[in-house]
Amino acid sequence: MTNIMEIENLKTYFYTEAGIVKALDGVTFNIEEDVTHGLVGESGSGKTVTALSVLGIVPSPGKIVDGRVMFHGENLVEKSDKEMQKLRGNKISISFQDPSTSLNPVFTVGSQIQEVIMRHQDVTKEEAKKAVIEILETVRISEAEQRYYEYPHQFSTGMRQRIAIARALSARPEILFADEPTTALDVTIEAQVLNLMQELQKNFGMDLVMITHDMGVIAEMCKRVTVLYAGRVCETGDVRSIFHEPLHPYTTALLTSVPSVLGRIKRLAVIPGTIPDLIYPPPGCRFHPRCTFAKDICKQEMPDAVEIKKGHKSACIRIDEIKGELLSRLKQAREEMESE
Ligand SMILES: Nc1ncnc2c1ncn2[C@@H]1O[C@H](COP(=O)(O)OP(=O)(O)O)[C@@H](O)[C@H]1O
Ligand SMILES: [Mg+2]
Repeated sequence: MTNIMEIENLKTYFYTEAGIVKALDGVTFNIEEDVTHGLVGESGSGKTVTALSVLGIVPSPGKIVDGRVMFHGENLVEKSDKEMQKLRGNKISISFQDPSTSLNPVFTVGSQIQEVIMRHQDVTKEEAKKAVIEILETVRISEAEQRYYEYPHQFSTGMRQRIAIARALSARPEILFADEPTTALDVTIEAQVLNLMQELQKNFGMDLVMITHDMGVIAEMCKRVTVLYAGRVCETGDVRSIFHEPLHPYTTALLTSVPSVLGRIKRLAVIPGTIPDLIYPPPGCRFHPRCTFAKDICKQEMPDAVEIKKGHKSACIRIDEIKGELLSRLKQAREEMESE
């Protein structure tokens, strides 16, 4: 398997008045070519900051302080703003969780996508307009020709999310980071958008990085996954391997608290405790204060993810001792869910 991107020891800190927020503190994982990669973790674990760091758009007071992002043999962290601007949209693109951050309310939807196309492709205005209508149709906006002239607020939330995806796609990126594309949507629309993303990925031949807090979305969409917690990688590997035999207590906690779908309302799962303060993170493994398996040794050093099984890495230093217990917890939780 070839990697299209290698993220190595990435550290992104926010220099706030309250102190230095260590949002990413040594994040390492690879994105393989032609494989949908999931980036999962609770809110605040560093998923969005990872994508922003890769794209070179970390907002102030944030800064990448260490690490590398290797893409086509080049380290993106070392590139100038101008070089990154060229890469963004062209080779690497992002669609944001909240489409209102990527769609400007005062311009028509059509003109906003057209602008992206004209910036990245050598086409006339007329050709660009045609391309916009095509891409709107691709994301299943009906009557695209008329709707080209409408403003973002005239569309439903689900449509706006699809338009934001269309905008991200219109530059024909090699990699698209889709940041929680369905979190704001109800479950029926969610299924539609996920199907659409799979279809687009196939048709456009691009690599997709799905950012989500939802293991269900990972199961449905991804072949590989990286689990983030408090700015560190807990586990990375094949989705199948991780769902069958998670090798980290945090992943097991995520898997045993899969959100239950009640009618059309998505309920977020809860793991006891809260994500730590990233200005004063706990010593050692960042998950240890919430981990039911933690021992003194877990407080001592910050573990990196190492290969436990082929292609499957874990950052839990006690994994050999506890993996049997993790499996039986998972089995028990699955039996309970089935009997509900
Ligand atoms: N502009 C900012 N200033 C200070 N801290 C920030 C800023 N943006 C993000 N962070 C911090 O970085 C951490 C990771 O955030 P984020 O990547 O948005 O999490 P996720 O996308 O996984 O929910 C959080 O602790 C968050 O508070
Ligand atoms: Mg986020």
